[in-house]
Amino acid sequence: MDQPLPQLDQPTAPPPAPEAEHQHGALHDAHGRTIHDLRMSITDRCNFRCIYCMEPTDRFLPKRALLSASEYIMIVDAAITLGVRKVRLTGGEPTLYPVLDTIISELGRRNLDDIAMTTNGSLLDPTRAARWKAAGLTRLTFSLDTLREDRMTSITRSKTRVSDVLRSIDIAADSGLARSKINVVAMRGLNEDEFADFADLARERDLDIRFIEFMPLDSGRSWNPGRVVSESEIIESIEQRHGLEQRDSQNLHSTSRDYHFKDGAPGRIGVIASVTRPFCGACNRLRVTAEGAVRPCLFSNTEWDIRPLLRSGGSHDDIVRFLVDSVWTKQAGHGIGRDDFKQPDRGMSAIGG
Ligand code: 5AD
Ligand code: SF4
Repeated sequence: MDQPLPQLDQPTAPPPAPEAEHQHGALHDAHGRTIHDLRMSITDRCNFRCIYCMEPTDRFLPKRALLSASEYIMIVDAAITLGVRKVRLTGGEPTLYPVLDTIISELGRRNLDDIAMTTNGSLLDPTRAARWKAAGLTRLTFSLDTLREDRMTSITRSKTRVSDVLRSIDIAADSGLARSKINVVAMRGLNEDEFADFADLARERDLDIRFIEFMPLDSGRSWNPGRVVSESEIIESIEQRHGLEQRDSQNLHSTSRDYHFKDGAPGRIGVIASVTRPFCGACNRLRVTAEGAVRPCLFSNTEWDIRPLLRSGGSHDDIVRFLVDSVWTKQAGHGIGRDDFKQPDRGMSAIGG
């Protein structure tokens, strides 16, 4: 006999949104924001244990707790009905998900503006990249926090080398995917002396390098404000080597402030200053975890369990209703720094970036 599936902390459905919210076919929240961007963590498994994300002792969900490809697609279809234009696949490490290719192909058949995936770059090969591109994947985002091999080992606690990830970045470029983004988590005492080196990499390979301020989403709970390297420090440190100019064509919902090089060199720099310059007011995102927890915010302490609905024959309209109700509960902002801020029980690998 199978053991019962582990339940979410609060295995609940969202309270009903006002009835009018069910009439306009869009995902609105109670703070005037509209959701167009769905982020699905398709597995909590990862072959890395990045120090700002997971602890080596963290346990993964049993396989049957994870949603199936068709369950994810049912959620995507409901989200598209409600105006979602962009889907990002995250993890854990999404390239470990056994039927990833099926999900990408199904997404590719739908009318979406952007299908992106975040990866640690350890498991890419030219055949896989070509298949994903042909199936409709738009771009890859790589996580890479250092260019030094010794630091790579201590940050990721894996055997993957910087050179492996750089090779994957080249594979992505050769496969015709759009310009890759590289996420660099900026941490005091860890990689703050490498920002200008990353800028060199952006220039050499025409990459979009985005520095992310360290957020309290590490399951080891080592975060403290002193470990955050701020946006202004990041920019100052790059400018000691290369002049930067802020780009004016900023997407309203972009989480990053973007720069190009003053001398016209290729590549771009972005800073996601989630801690020192929160952009919650422009947030247009909704997240679903690998076991079907709908999370209105990265920092939600309340989440809505859509798996029972999916596994009890819920219709497209039922899922649409569930998403509208869920989004209506989206909190105004993350509240980091406030006295009542509570770090979510889930680490980043169980939420999805
Ligand atoms: N703070 C900031 N960024 C993080 N990421 C993972 N954990 C954290 C954290 N605690 C980033 C990784 C990955 C993206 C999905 O989230 O760099 O690229
Ligand atoms: Fe894995 Fe990404 Fe978390 Fe690193 S940050 S442990 S690569 S899920």
